[in-house]
Amino acid sequence: MRTSSRFVPTTDYAALHPCDVVVIAVPTPLSKTKDPDLRYIEAALDQLIPHLREGQLVSLESTTYPGTTEEVIRPRLEQAGWRVGENLFLGFSPERINPGDRKHPVRTIPKVVGGTDPVSLELMKAFYASAFERVHPVSSATAAEMAKLLENTFRNVNIALINEVAQMCHLLGLDVWEVIEAAGTKPFGFMKFYPGPGIGGHCIPVDPHYLAWKMKTLNYSARMIQTATEINTHMPRYVVIRLTELMNDRGKSLKGSRFLILGVAYKKNVSDTRESPALDILLLLQARGAEVLYHDPYVPHLTIQEQTWNSVPLEDEVLAQVDAVLILTDHENVDYDRVVQKAPLVFDTRNVRPRLSSDPPPDRYVRL
Ligand SMILES: NC(=O)c1ccc[n+]([C@@H]2O[C@H](COP(=O)([O-])OP(=O)(O)OC[C@H]3O[C@@H](n4cnc5c(N)ncnc54)[C@H](O)[C@@H]3O)[C@@H](O)[C@H]2O)c1
Repeated sequence: MRTSSRFVPTTDYAALHPCDVVVIAVPTPLSKTKDPDLRYIEAALDQLIPHLREGQLVSLESTTYPGTTEEVIRPRLEQAGWRVGENLFLGFSPERINPGDRKHPVRTIPKVVGGTDPVSLELMKAFYASAFERVHPVSSATAAEMAKLLENTFRNVNIALINEVAQMCHLLGLDVWEVIEAAGTKPFGFMKFYPGPGIGGHCIPVDPHYLAWKMKTLNYSARMIQTATEINTHMPRYVVIRLTELMNDRGKSLKGSRFLILGVAYKKNVSDTRESPALDILLLLQARGAEVLYHDPYVPHLTIQEQTWNSVPLEDEVLAQVDAVLILTDHENVDYDRVVQKAPLVFDTRNVRPRLSSDPPPDRYVRL
């Protein structure tokens, strides 16, 4: 492993003892019942506690429900004999990195920080100001936790809205992409979101459940989150229904047909397939007796439920031998013009390119 004096990766918790600041950024997944799974945070704390020293700042960056820093971390530190705000300091600062985004380098993304007490907040501000261009302090660690969940719930709910609008437009015989572009010309009060085959990744589908769970403990039902989840989790099935209709129009069934899924990563230009709707669609098609191939320039192999697929090359023969190509991820380094020209049917759930006059007829290049 290559190391420098500025960055020394290690799995040895004892190495944290001399540090002034300890940042915890471990996974915060969901349990099978969609409840928060804080096992990684708890394990990291258990391993960290024996190595803490006086005056250190502990900053949690894992996305989690409002109250985690105050109600889970602080008591554990205090049980270990620390007096938070006096001889040990504690805060929360949400991680806001956007994987695959070259336009927003990390240091330019404002850093929200909250502390469990005034001294902790001052330390949080000083620490993050050394790495970020702008630090935005809030009055508590809980407010910082909630800010992150607001951001991701906002995205989740707006994607659900546009996914529903896409279904409405289809029933109305309208092109949702045209409608979005038209609405997007309004210079105020509107923000463009785009429909797709469902939501994926380890943040947008997961984080709102952290908030909904916390609210349930307060006897409050997070209705917008519930509705948005229903709409978004239905999208893979909606895509399969639309594909079934397209095949039906050609006198074919899913059973016995061969499909190429183009893009299995949950979003463009990344290799991450966690929670990707493409995996659901692949399994749904397979369960209906279809043969499913995939191509993804970022994902050479894919294992779901102990079955492994290899990305097939995007060659003309492959495109000609499938019954349809299903575009599920809008990676930039794919020759979509060739796909549209060579495949017998393309169902594009991402609007990867505008329609051209040289395109095959609209019933061969269909968009969500
Ligand atoms: N990656 C992102 O784009 C992103 C963006 C916003 C928020 N987040 C949040 O940040 C947190 C971490 O996400 P991630 O994508 O980095 O997860 P990840 O799974 O990619 O990485 C987490 C790291 O934690 C390490 N780890 C697990 N248990 C540990 C322990 N007990 N001690 C030390 N290290 C341990 C793992 O080895 C791994 O290297 C999550 O809460 C996530 O929601 C991530």
